[in-house]
Amino acid sequence: MRLIQALFLTEGDTKPTTLGKDNPLWSLYDIHERILKDIALGVDEFLIFPVPVAKEQDPTWGWIGEAIHNIKDRYAYESKLAVDLCLCSTMPDGHCHHPEEERSRELMINQARAVHRAGADTLAPSDCQPHTVKDIRTQIPEAHIMSYSTKFRSTFYRGYREAMSIEKGIERTYQLDVNDREGAIQRSVDYSNDGADELMVKPGITGIDLIEPIKQRTGKPCGVFQTSGEWLGIGAPGSLKETHDVFQRAGADYMISYGARLL
Ligand code: PBG
Ligand code: ZN
Repeated sequence: MRLIQALFLTEGDTKPTTLGKDNPLWSLYDIHERILKDIALGVDEFLIFPVPVAKEQDPTWGWIGEAIHNIKDRYAYESKLAVDLCLCSTMPDGHCHHPEEERSRELMINQARAVHRAGADTLAPSDCQPHTVKDIRTQIPEAHIMSYSTKFRSTFYRGYREAMSIEKGIERTYQLDVNDREGAIQRSVDYSNDGADELMVKPGITGIDLIEPIKQRTGKPCGVFQTSGEWLGIGAPGSLKETHDVFQRAGADYMISYGARLL
């Protein structure tokens, strides 16, 4: 099972989060040293969450492209870099889409292009909107797409919401209901048909039994995202390794975690 370290990258200064001293929002400058340390710890894959300083409904992605290019070009050239694509870190209402669908699609594809052009190895759309994977596949045919394909509406996202200054209780109706097993598998099948290269269940703990059926039905790799709430629930030494072993036992091809560097 591949291990992927999640990292927050902010346009502003390094800022603490509730996810521990090794998981703040990293400034463009400070993320450099963290990545080098992680590489020394054996990490060879990263998932980066870009976090703009301002909330705005019509963002431009110039800073993200530049930042990803610097990271990839200067010190992470041997690492695999995935970048999370969404709108919730910038939309004033905290949702993963712009209120107008056409504009939303345009903003997502602009973000995808900026990140792809900057040299990211993997585009990871997490917005759970119906057209996104297809739009990226059509407009950037050569992109490697890791889709947040079976993503549940969940209370396990608290730390992330706090880190993004998103209202904690915000309900994302476009995320899936944990009680709908077939629908949750089907969503991964749909994104696979839209052109995703890799699939995912998120949170890991509430999707663990769906990894095998998703792999069987699509023939594609499927991994888990160990979310902020799961990470915050890990107290005892050894518990992180235990969750890792169980995701592996369940057939996960990769595990994204705030603690990948510790495994
Ligand atoms: C939404 C998004 C979420 C997370 C990352 N991107 C979920 C949400 O806020 O609904 C959660 C990540 C985590 O909790 O670690 N695009
Ligand atoms: Zn989002």
